[in-house]
Amino acid sequence: MENKIVLITGGTGLIGSQLSKLLFDKGYQVRILSRAKNSVQKKAYHYYHWNIETKEIDIAALKSVHYIIHLAGAGIADKRWTAARKKHILDSRVNGATLLLETLKQLNHRPLKFIAASGIGFYGAINSPTIFTEKAPPQNDFLGNVCKTWEQSSLKFEKRGIPTSILRTGIVLSKNGGALKKLSQTFLFNFGTALGDGRQYMPWIHIDDLCQLYLLAIEAPEFIGIYNAVSPEHTTNSEFTKAITKRYKRSFLLPNTPSLVLKIVLGTMSEMVLNGARVSPEKLIQFGFKFQYSTLKKALEDLIK
Ligand SMILES: NC(=O)c1ccc[n+]([C@@H]2O[C@H](COP(=O)([O-])OP(=O)(O)OC[C@H]3O[C@@H](n4cnc5c(N)ncnc54)[C@H](OP(=O)(O)O)[C@@H]3O)[C@@H](O)[C@H]2O)c1
Repeated sequence: MENKIVLITGGTGLIGSQLSKLLFDKGYQVRILSRAKNSVQKKAYHYYHWNIETKEIDIAALKSVHYIIHLAGAGIADKRWTAARKKHILDSRVNGATLLLETLKQLNHRPLKFIAASGIGFYGAINSPTIFTEKAPPQNDFLGNVCKTWEQSSLKFEKRGIPTSILRTGIVLSKNGGALKKLSQTFLFNFGTALGDGRQYMPWIHIDDLCQLYLLAIEAPEFIGIYNAVSPEHTTNSEFTKAITKRYKRSFLLPNTPSLVLKIVLGTMSEMVLNGARVSPEKLIQFGFKFQYSTLKKALEDLIK
């Protein structure tokens, strides 16, 4: 039997590179759609080029594809949120999905599934005791609106008869990059502190669990719709900070970084670190998903050696 083909947009990124390896090891043929023409390419995968801004795409990337995983998008926390950057964050995700759908129409091809990332920013940069489920409406702030529009662009695949899954993802913990790597650098030098009042929630997920979820989305036809991809343990910023400090065997904790300092350094992006909603993975658990890393302690034991 021929190997099933998975196309991953943003397959060169933090999640995409680990997911590509997992899928390849499971016997899938992995295609990566990337902006780079001359990147360091791994022999195991097939690379294709696209440019979302100019609407260029190598149509061969989508030919006979069985599954599409759409991860591509400009880094949300990479740069200050100027008006131009905000537009880029949104457009890179939404216009990418639109280009994929138009190309499928042109090819008259319907893959078995379209699987897309989204973020728990959907619920807003707010501090509240509410535990948000997938039924909650989007928050009317920058990330809430980005996630809403991004998800709407993904759900257009469903309207075209392509089963669609969306993983509304929390902070991804990995030793290879992302939030944990950035935080680790500060903790190693004893500069790690809780942010603001430290009471904001930081829904997180270990990258291994997230990659297993993408695999589940491919392999379980009934896994469709929107799922919160967060671990079952609700962790505040203060608890998160203490757990990392302990893991690095640093006994000394500086006072919290005041909100005002973060607002000056990060601008409006500070709302993302100073606030955080509590998010429920109950729908995933009801589906039967078993987290390998259900507590932060277990996740950090694996990620910080
Ligand atoms: N990591 C997290 O904590 C987290 C949490 C929630 C949601 N997510 C979402 O999950 C997705 C993958 O996350 P990640 O952490 O793997 O991201 P990442 O490491 O930043 O990788 C994203 C990939 O998207 C492509 N990309 C970057 N800028 C782009 C642009 N302007 N236009 C088109 N493509 C662009 C890049 O691939 P090429 O250079 O090859 O084109 C890059 O490798 C993202 O959409 C992210 O928002 C991540």
